[in-house]
Amino acid sequence: MKLALASGDLTLQKCDLLLVPVFESDLAGGAKKAPAPLAALDAALGGLVFRVAAEEQFRGKADSSLTLQSHERLPAARVLLLGLGARQSFAPEALRMAAGKGAKAARRVGAATVALALPDVREIAGCVEAAAEGLLLGAYRFDRYKTGEKDKPARETRQANLLLPAKTPKSRELADALAWAERVCEATNWARDLVNEPANQLGPTDLALAARQMAVDGKLKFEALDQDKIEALRMGLFMGVAQGSAEGPQLVHVWYEPAGGGGKKQAKAKTKPVVLVGKAITFDSGGLSLKPTDGMVEMKTDMAGAAAVLGAMKVVAQLQPPFPVHAFLGACENMPSGRAYRPGDVLVSRLGKTVEITNTDAEGRLVLGDVLAWANELEPAILVDVATLTGACVVALGNYITGVFGTDDAAVWEVLEAAKGCGEEMWRLPISDLQRESLKSEIADLKNTGDRWGGAINAAMFLREFVGQTPWVHLDIAGTSTSPKERGYYAKGATGHGVRTLAALVRARMAPKA
Ligand code: BES
Ligand code: MN
Ligand code: ZN
Repeated sequence: MKLALASGDLTLQKCDLLLVPVFESDLAGGAKKAPAPLAALDAALGGLVFRVAAEEQFRGKADSSLTLQSHERLPAARVLLLGLGARQSFAPEALRMAAGKGAKAARRVGAATVALALPDVREIAGCVEAAAEGLLLGAYRFDRYKTGEKDKPARETRQANLLLPAKTPKSRELADALAWAERVCEATNWARDLVNEPANQLGPTDLALAARQMAVDGKLKFEALDQDKIEALRMGLFMGVAQGSAEGPQLVHVWYEPAGGGGKKQAKAKTKPVVLVGKAITFDSGGLSLKPTDGMVEMKTDMAGAAAVLGAMKVVAQLQPPFPVHAFLGACENMPSGRAYRPGDVLVSRLGKTVEITNTDAEGRLVLGDVLAWANELEPAILVDVATLTGACVVALGNYITGVFGTDDAAVWEVLEAAKGCGEEMWRLPISDLQRESLKSEIADLKNTGDRWGGAINAAMFLREFVGQTPWVHLDIAGTSTSPKERGYYAKGATGHGVRTLAALVRARMAPKA
């Protein structure tokens, strides 16, 4: 889908589908009190906008919509009114959601060309960004394995024009907002594909290859270490998890360096890097602590953290920040077999800390423990990990809010701020030493699982053991990495959650506030 900024009258837009976001108050007072563009649209359609809205009880509430056929009274073939909710409580996310709904409608009716009327609010650049993102993310489908014709849209949406409100000139700022949205969405949809890809099509080696291809395309540096090298790095926790699978693990490192930079050593000598780590379990069966089928069927998505981190690197490659950005993934499968690690085993981590395995299904924290320790050797300015880590986090925050953990308030704040601006909802949860005792082992330094209660905290507490004093933030995306249903700009399945926040985090660091 190609996007462009445009201006002009709603009633003169020639397109297959005209998307018109409306506030509740736009409809409440009837045609006479409606904002000028909506009143004009109503007049052109002979009063049908307000009449049908009343008949269908469409009031402009968030997530509601109303279709009108123009029957040649307008150059646009169809009009779709999209509810934004109350004007007073408007945030760009409402527009992002509405635009997503619009993109899905466009696909359903086979609209090749679309125009979307931006609401007349003050934050116009934010609206351009949100509307563009809603359209691009909303148009996403994962239909690679659908062979029937009826599952494919008759016509893809080729062109979408974003109509600026009257008297809003095009500007550099608005063009930049659009360009940003395009980059971030391309990366997010790419990440969504990785997550939706079944585990038999995307194992550790495939994931490493996808990362390499992305790195080559984006002129990023790339390195992947195989089993022998991982062993040489004494990553006993990572090796323990990986050993049950027929396919070997891959330790993937993708990085960006500002022009003139050198290798790992030089990056350290100059500006401190931003370092990202993603959980990359391409399939989590639970291992010998096997998951029941219902819980296992979605576990191809257990590499969503890695996909988010790689998606962010795709944006970083274009952003070209003046500081280095590194991404690390410990990619492997968690499988039961005659070679699998067992409950009761003691593993020795890269840091030397020993871990008694009490549940082989708590594998993410083990791999992350070693990979975080390795990443931490770069002395990051900020270290962020993204992981589908615990069911407990889903119980706590549901499917739409990511859990944020960290002991460095400033770093946590920075991530929350980045998230807020881009519509990825996150909420900080505590790491409390009140629970520290539950990770104590009789025979080793740590157990890999604690009490059931506060399970997301236990996992974060485990990770904390491997990051030293570095400003570190852990994002538990077990709930947000997939959407249980179609919603706004989300399709059922992978969301790409994390890409936008991480990209925004890097961007914010490029223009530090005074
Ligand atoms: N990958 C799962 C967590 C998960 C659950 C992700 C649901 C997405 C949706 C993780 O490896 C896991 O199995 N965690 C266990 C930990 C427990 C054994 C302490 C869990 O949450 O049940
Ligand atoms: Mn698990
Ligand atoms: Zn897992």
